[in-house]
Amino acid sequence: MFSLDGWWTGGRQRPVESVFGASKLALVAFLGAIGAGLLLPPGATAADEEGAACIKCHRDVTPNIVADWELSRHHEEGVDCSSCHLGDHKSADDVAKIETITAETCGDCHEDQFEQFSRGKHAFAWAALKAMPTTHWKPMELIDGMKGCGGCHKLGLKSKEEITKLKAEGSTFGHASCDACHTRHTFSLKEAREPEACATCHMGFDHPQWEMYSTSKHGVRHEMKRNGTLPSTAAAPTCQHCHMPKGDHEVRTAWGFLAVRTNGLAPYPGESEQWWADRVTILQALGVLDPQGNPTDRLGVVDQAQVARLTAESFDKERARMLSACGDCHSENFARAELEKGDGIIEQIDHLMAEAIRVVAGLYEDGILQKPESYTYAFPDLLTFHDSPTPIENRLFTMHLKHRMRAFQGAFHANPDYTLWYGWSEMVQDLTEIKAEAEEMRRNHGKR
Ligand code: HEC
Ligand code: HEC
Ligand code: HEC
Ligand code: HEC
Ligand code: HEC
Ligand code: HEC
Ligand code: HEC
Ligand code: HEC
Repeated sequence: MFSLDGWWTGGRQRPVESVFGASKLALVAFLGAIGAGLLLPPGATAADEEGAACIKCHRDVTPNIVADWELSRHHEEGVDCSSCHLGDHKSADDVAKIETITAETCGDCHEDQFEQFSRGKHAFAWAALKAMPTTHWKPMELIDGMKGCGGCHKLGLKSKEEITKLKAEGSTFGHASCDACHTRHTFSLKEAREPEACATCHMGFDHPQWEMYSTSKHGVRHEMKRNGTLPSTAAAPTCQHCHMPKGDHEVRTAWGFLAVRTNGLAPYPGESEQWWADRVTILQALGVLDPQGNPTDRLGVVDQAQVARLTAESFDKERARMLSACGDCHSENFARAELEKGDGIIEQIDHLMAEAIRVVAGLYEDGILQKPESYTYAFPDLLTFHDSPTPIENRLFTMHLKHRMRAFQGAFHANPDYTLWYGWSEMVQDLTEIKAEAEEMRRNHGKR
């Protein structure tokens, strides 16, 4: 169930000799220069005529798609409908013949961005979703229908087989990845540079980066620049400034989503014994280590999908990249100290988290809770999300994915309220209630 084998075949969907051939970018620019769009130059190819036909008919069928495209750089450059949409569709009767657009379609002309994107975390979004046990217990509308988990995770790359399977189920769209930040059909650079481009996905329950950033001094200053209170040249970072420095599409952070790190199967250099013991407990509850502390199959997935940095070097590399971004505005000393405070918060919250996990693990150990059929071990499994079988485990899940997240993410996003009230404080409350509930379960055990 946890294998990522074959999730990405890397196979090109486009025929190599398609539309403009190999040096497409140059040729497209040339066509743009001689005023492409609707005015077909002498010697126009069949492809140009096809493009013009799409526009003519679609001005009636989908007028705002054509209007949007006309606002785009693509329009200026003569990249028209048929440059992206391949297939034999020519009228209302053959709509099913349109081929699915993938990141590779864009990659044919934007190789650098495609390569960077493919190496970064965004490329893994679909595979990571599919690797979760909880995914397979949810209504498919929420997953393959892209209405829940799938609606955000769709930006990940999909294997050819996956797309074929999805298409057979009726899914035609939502596989383009690159339209996540510069949306169709304007595909605008300016839009992608604003923090709102990230907001739809990076918000809410377990990753409220939008809420944290937009109310932090960083976000507030950025907003004040836009509304004219501060001059447009004033310093204020966007998400992109810190996470896509110089337009690098390879996104990845040092701690990652789950904020666990290792150096092989040993602690990151300099960590205390207590912190490492707490991390081991958390990794056990994530099913990455078994209850005896040995690696499981899930460790392989964590490694392949880059869920966590598993060597000190890979952690340090991302940390250095981030420090250099802070360094555009702050002193290195200041920035390093701020990031280390974030690390310190993780050490503290890991201690609360591990204690709560041990309380619930104790219930399994003492036979108060029985191993659910879907669990590999008689041990709490945080990856079952809210589908975990008991209220106490639901609480543990919330403590982990909602409150622990807020505590450290808030620290890194300069948001004191999230770090304290929505994060730390809620965790303390979770722990108190988990302990009380466990005691009551022990008292009641065998009585009913
Ligand atoms: C003679 C009219 C006509 C021409 C020419 C035409 N289309 Fe369409 N196209 C349609 C109609 C009608 C639909 C269905 C619209 C709907 O579902 O509301 C459609 C749907 C689409 C869709 C959406 C498919 C879907 O499943 O929702 C895309 C993409 C598309 N056309 C692109 C193109 C491209 C690219 C060309 C040129 C190669 C083109 N069209 C040429 C009439 C046309
Ligand atoms: C046939 C070639 C071609 C294809 C396919 C193509 N583009 Fe482009 N694109 C261009 C050219 C040419 C430019 C203008 C020069 C440049 O910025 O590289 C451009 C510019 C852009 C820009 C900058 C826009 C701006 O506001 O300055 C973005 C963003 C972009 N493309 C995204 C995409 C995405 C996303 C896809 C796939 C859905 C895609 N492109 C597919 C050729 C293409
Ligand atoms: C369509 C939804 C979507 C949009 C839009 C989006 N992201 Fe993401 N992002 C995700 C998902 C899903 C993941 C987790 C991917 C995975 O499985 O590893 C992610 C992961 C990340 C990570 C990696 C965190 C880690 O684990 O180290 C960073 C950084 C990130 N996004 C930044 C951004 C920024 C900045 C923007 C806007 C410019 C943005 N994202 C826009 C969905 C999105
Ligand atoms: C609102 C958009 C959104 C929805 C809905 C969503 N996710 Fe995510 N997911 C994200 C983003 C964004 C990240 C990265 C956040 C971060 O790194 O802080 C992420 C991260 C993850 C990760 C960690 C990936 C990694 O390698 O670090 C997994 C696994 C995951 N989500 C699974 C799910 C599942 C399962 C569901 C449905 C139950 C779901 N997500 C619903 C946006 C979403
Ligand atoms: C730069 C690439 C690009 C160009 C140029 C382009 N499209 Fe699209 N189009 C896309 C992408 C990407 C999607 C979303 C596909 C997906 O999610 O799988 C899309 C989706 C669509 C859809 C279906 C979605 C909807 O909102 O109804 C229609 C219809 C459509 N395009 C028509 C057109 C027409 C007409 C033109 C020319 C005026 C055009 N496209 C030009 C990339 C492009
Ligand atoms: C997470 C959001 C996000 C995703 C996903 C994304 N982009 Fe971008 N893209 C950006 C941002 C932000 C910029 C502007 C970078 C800068 O400021 O120079 C950008 C810039 C671009 C440019 C213009 C480069 C230039 O300097 O002219 C192109 C072309 C482009 N992206 C193509 C793509 C392609 C192709 C994909 C998919 C493989 C993609 N993008 C996916 C956010 C994104
Ligand atoms: C001032 C720089 C900065 C800005 C602005 C910023 N971030 Fe971050 N972000 C960080 C730092 C620092 C980390 C933690 C890095 C580490 O692991 O060492 C982080 C971590 C993340 C992560 C991984 C999980 C987490 O929250 O720790 C995601 C996803 C993310 N940021 C997305 C965003 C999004 C989306 C925005 C805008 C709404 C944003 N960030 C704005 C600096 C920034
Ligand atoms: C583009 C410029 C810019 C970048 C990049 C940037 N910051 Fe800032 N930062 C500011 C500005 C401006 C302020 C507001 C100054 C103030 O609070 O007096 C600020 C405030 C802060 C504050 C609040 C300080 C206080 O006095 O309350 C912290 C903490 C912080 N930044 C940390 C970071 C970290 C860590 C990074 C890198 C991950 C970073 N910043 C990146 C410009 C930036």
